[in-house]
Formats: sequence, C-alpha cells, structure tokens
Amino acid sequence: MPTYQDLYQTTWHADYPLAETTVLVTGGAGFIGHHIVTYLLIHGAKVRVLDNFVTGHQHNLSPLLQNPAYANRLEVIEGDIRNLADCQKACLGADVVLHQAALGSVPRSLQDPITTNEVNIGGFLNMLVAARDAKVRRFVYAASSSTYGDSVGLPKVEDVIGRPLSPYAVTKYVNELYADVFARTFGLPVIGLRYFNVFGPGQDPNGPYAAVIPKFLAAFKAHQAPHINGDGTVSRDFTFAANAVQANIKAMIVSAPEALNQVYNVALGARTSLNELASTLQNLTGAPLPATHGPDRIGDIAHSQADISKAQQLLGYAPTITVPEGLKVLVSWG
Ligand SMILES: NC(=O)c1ccc[n+]([C@@H]2O[C@H](COP(=O)([O-])OP(=O)(O)OC[C@H]3O[C@@H](n4cnc5c(N)ncnc54)[C@H](O)[C@@H]3O)[C@@H](O)[C@H]2O)c1
Repeated sequence: MPTYQDLYQTTWHADYPLAETTVLVTGGAGFIGHHIVTYLLIHGAKVRVLDNFVTGHQHNLSPLLQNPAYANRLEVIEGDIRNLADCQKACLGADVVLHQAALGSVPRSLQDPITTNEVNIGGFLNMLVAARDAKVRRFVYAASSSTYGDSVGLPKVEDVIGRPLSPYAVTKYVNELYADVFARTFGLPVIGLRYFNVFGPGQDPNGPYAAVIPKFLAAFKAHQAPHINGDGTVSRDFTFAANAVQANIKAMIVSAPEALNQVYNVALGARTSLNELASTLQNLTGAPLPATHGPDRIGDIAHSQADISKAQQLLGYAPTITVPEGLKVLVSWG
C-alpha cells in the first residue's frame, strides 16, 4: 500500500534551503494543502498552517502532528482568512506563503455566492495585504482552470480566457487580477497556479460538493453504481495531487524574474472523459457496475485540457504521474 512517504521522496526543490525556510500553507488541512504540508515536512521545512477547518480535516494533519520527526516543525493556527488579524498572525515570520484556502466547488458558489465571494475574494485580499506587510519572499496561490470559462479552444493557454461560468470562477479570476496589481504596485513576488481537476488521497468523498473521482471511488467501494451528470463524454485534465505539489514547490523556489507575476496551468496536459474514468475505476476496484446518467450540470463546460508548456519552460514543471497511475495509487491507498 503506497504512503505519503513514497509519494514525496522525490526532491523538487533542488538546492533551495528548505530547512531554513518557514512556509505558511493556508488551507493546509484541506486536500491539496495537506499534500503540500507533507512534502515540506518530509524535506525539512518549518510549516505553519492557517485553516478554519470548514472543509479541511484534523485527520489530514494529526498523523503529521503525532510524528516526532515533524511535530516541532508544524504549527497549526485555527483561524479564518476573512479575518485580517488571523492572516497577519499567520504571516508573521513566514518566508513564503502557499495560499490554498478557499471555498471550492462551482455548485457551492451557485448555491451561496455571497460566502464564496467573502472567502475567496475578501479572504484572498486579506492574505495579500498580510503577506505584503510581512515582506514575504514569495506568494504562490491556488488559481483555477474555471477561469477559462466559456472559451472553447483546446488546449487552454494561459492568456486566452473566456467569460466566467460561475461565481466561483469569478472569484478565482479576481484573485489573479488582485495578485497582478499587488505585484505591479507593491512588488509582491506572486505566482498563480491554475489547477485543473486535482485528485488523490485525502480528497473528501462526502457532502454535496464532493469532486467526481472520490465520489466515483466511494460508490464503487460501496458496490453502488456511480452517478454521472450528462452522457459521460464530458472530459477533464485530471491532475494527480503530487503533480500539483511539484508545481507549488517549483513556484516557491524559481528565481528567474520572468517567471514571477505569472499564472500557470497546472495539469497533466491530457484529457479523460467521465466514462473513461468510471471504467478505469471499475477495472481497478473489480466492481462491475455500470454508471447511471442524469442531466448535465449547470456551469460545466464540455471539455478541458491544459497546455502546460508555460509551466514546463518557466518553472521546470514536469508532471510525473498519469491519470491511470494516480487512480491506481488512489485505489490501493486503502
Ligand atoms: N481540487 C481541485 O481540483 C482544485 C481545482 C482548482 C482550484 N482549486 C483550488 O485549490 C485550493 C485547494 O483546494 P482543495 O481541493 O484542497 O479544497 P479543500 O476544500 O480540501 O481545501 C480548502 C481548505 O481551505 C480551508 N478554508 C476554507 N475557507 C477558509 C477560511 N475562510 N479561512 C481559513 N481556511 C479556510 C478549508 O478548511 C480547507 O482546509 C482552493 O483554493 C481551490 O479553489 C482546487
């Protein structure tokens, strides 16, 4: 059975002095955040997490807090990015910020646009102000492929976007606008990472806003047919979590000036349909259950696939785990 240690043995930070670096990971109790925290701790960094646990979990951090090799290098601040004082406290003494905290999910933002806006825009702005005032060396933030909106061209290149299709997409685009302004007016060294459908161990399968892969896997494991919105031909550039971690590490260490104040696609650069996903999981779990189909979901585009050449060239990003490999890891995880 693979473990986090296995996933994060590889060194992506070259000779960067990680052991002398304090990294603030907001949303570090969440799915992507706890993967980043794990890499950083394995490789010697001091890590601080700011999280209000609204969608993140103690159980993502407790094995790290209980590990004597990491416990004295991991500090967890329970706080809210909507509160500037919490952001200031968390940024104090941090060298680098990897900002992951946000309310994810397109359907959640359609249901409650006001809270999504407060957290994803108000909270983001608080973090920018706190990071600027604390004079951090780098501010890397989670952007989103949802910023491509209704643009239909494939693969997606960073400077061609469409109109946002959901309140969530608006918030993630506004993040990019604010980050750019803070870079140009205050000299804050920012990098945005547009994640494309990240999946992997520790992703929550529960609740109405769960992502498709943990939901399908939970269904197969419970011997229930997974439910697909639409006919299943919808495709996405599913990205294994370790690839997103690699992008964060490379964005925090890159020194070339032309690599800063940029946004990058973080993906595999390939497309997988929901039908293909269901059938791969079917084979891996040995649960021969045909999926059920319902209407298309509001706010969804038909296809998404990233051009990752910008991240390859400027960050040295090189995704190592394909979708079938990532799914195999996920299924054997337990
Ligand atoms: N998972 C994906 O496929 C994907 C794709 C594109 C972008 N993103 C972005 O990546 C980031 C991480 O996503 P994730 O999938 O790990 O989601 P997640 O919900 O697992 O993690 C988000 C974390 O932020 C915390 N948080 C939320 N509101 C907060 C607040 N007000 N104050 C402090 N902490 C708060 C949550 O408790 C959680 O731990 C988010 O910014 C998300 O928008 C994710």
